Amino acid sequence: MPQKKIQLDFLDPEQSIQVNQGESILDALLCANIPIKQACTNGVCGVCLTPLLSGEIDYADRQPHGLNEKEKQNGYFLPCIATCKTDIAIGRPKVRLR
Ligand code: FES
Repeated sequence: MPQKKIQLDFLDPEQSIQVNQGESILDALLCANIPIKQACTNGVCGVCLTPLLSGEIDYADRQPHGLNEKEKQNGYFLPCIATCKTDIAIGRPKVRLR
């Protein structure tokens, strides 16, 4: 199955993980034990908000309701409903785990 790469720019040292086609970016992060907070996993609550630094993601037919205009303009996306269209690089998820 074709895979894409997610570069994790907020880790020191930087790391990258693989994501399977069709797998949500949130699932790929959780599988790799990358700390990210989640709640609805449905694009509604906005808890998983993460900056997309490069590359393209795809929401398919799902709507990122948990994202407001300002967050969109600032490059945030919702990993729980997004898959990778290309290799991507992401910044630190906005909501920190304790
Ligand atoms: S977990 Fe609620 S929008 Fe992603």
